[in-house]
Amino acid sequence: ATAGIADDLPALEKKDRYKVGFAQMESNNPWRIAETKSFHDTAEACNWDLIATDAAGSAAKQVADVDSMIAQGIDVLFLPPREEKPLIPAVMKAKAAGIPTFLVDRSVDPNVAKPGEHFVAFLGSDFIDQGRRVAEWTLENFQGDKGIIVQLEGTTGSSPANDRKKGFDDVMAKHDNMTIVASQTGDFARDLGRQVMETLLQAHPDVNIVYAHNDEMAIGAIQALELAGRKPGEDILVVSIDGTRDALQAIIDGKMGVTVESSPFFGPLACETMNRYANGEEIEHWVQVKDRIFTASNAADHIDEAY
Ligand code: AHR
Repeated sequence: ATAGIADDLPALEKKDRYKVGFAQMESNNPWRIAETKSFHDTAEACNWDLIATDAAGSAAKQVADVDSMIAQGIDVLFLPPREEKPLIPAVMKAKAAGIPTFLVDRSVDPNVAKPGEHFVAFLGSDFIDQGRRVAEWTLENFQGDKGIIVQLEGTTGSSPANDRKKGFDDVMAKHDNMTIVASQTGDFARDLGRQVMETLLQAHPDVNIVYAHNDEMAIGAIQALELAGRKPGEDILVVSIDGTRDALQAIIDGKMGVTVESSPFFGPLACETMNRYANGEEIEHWVQVKDRIFTASNAADHIDEAY
């Protein structure tokens, strides 16, 4: 499926410079900081006058930030919606104001707001596949007989938390020797991941696999496990998603098994997709980002390019 002018979407006029809005959701982890930097780094080469905001973890503020960008007359909006439902009004208001919107890295509820109809396209990874790949790697590499799994979920109501859980759970449900004993949110944050792991470890001292929906929570979990006298990488397998520098270092140190990549470097893809749209090209509804996988066999080769 593709999106173009014929779909009743706002058109993007060809201009020498564009006023571009990037409404970031929060800046509490290296992934978010790298994504925002990628937009700033792209701005000059792509002829953007960039207005970037930070909603500090509040979906309501993210909606208000988009309102303010609309009032400032942006030509185009790039939006990573913190949660699937609360950001739908922002998408609808941008369309009503005649501003083409591209969702980046996260999506909104597809039953309500659709690419090609309410926004131009979603630029991002296949989060279900990321969860599935972590599960498959775990099945191939777990050394014990019975897997007792704790899952640290991302932000409740966000597309990566929903989809990374689905991809992982669906694979594990087909294996009788694997049991997910607890699945709780750590809000994609290191400190909360550590706190939640501390609590879950008391309730489930026999846990031998931790699946975190992002590297920050995985690192927090490793801290909690070590404080409790466990040996990540030896008596418990920690697996996750993103590909941050700290996670690659934890893999090199033998404390983490795998991280499936989820790239934050959206600036260049945003520039290219926007220019294709301005040129009148049909845009695919999902501009999919392909993800690599980092393990002990290649983490050292990639740590220098990590964030
Ligand atoms: O939407 C992508 C996720 O959001 C990343 O995995 C996470 O680290 C970030 O906060």
